[in-house]
Amino acid sequence: MVLVCLSCNDKPRLEETEERSKQELIMYQPSEMANFMNVMYAYNLQLKEQITAGQQPVSMPLDLMTLYAAEMSNGHSRTTTWNSFVNVFIESQQMIADTLSDINLKERYNNAINNCLACHKTECTGPIPKIKKLLIH
Ligand code: HEC
Repeated sequence: MVLVCLSCNDKPRLEETEERSKQELIMYQPSEMANFMNVMYAYNLQLKEQITAGQQPVSMPLDLMTLYAAEMSNGHSRTTTWNSFVNVFIESQQMIADTLSDINLKERYNNAINNCLACHKTECTGPIPKIKKLLIH
């Protein structure tokens, strides 16, 4: 049986047929990369609250080098597309905490989130609606 990345599927888990989802949920073990993605999600959610409250983040505590090293779940790998998005993303995530930047903070933050989305459009479509909620309107 093939282990799929459930969270990358477009269909929510609850809509899956019962036997299929039962079997897959038992086998589902989040990869190192999936875990790190969830850490990045939580961090950006907290940044959103901070920025909305008018605060400037002064440091970026995540080890973004994990993106180069973490193990990925079956069916995922560092494709050419992945490689073309990852550096741009890392730079944009770091720029949010650049207190010397001339660019508007909200714009820098949304730019980083749009870079999450850019990679996800081809590499992992499932979490897109969730990631979109991170955008500051
Ligand atoms: C360079 C491409 C790329 C970037 C940039 C990227 N992701 Fe991901 N993301 C992936 C891939 C591929 C997976 C699937 C990883 C796996 O299952 O091993 C994933 C998985 C996820 C998941 C699902 C984790 C789970 O529980 O299975 C979430 C949530 C997520 N990403 C959020 C984000 C957020 C938020 C950002 C930006 C802060 C981001 N991603 C940036 C490619 C990317």
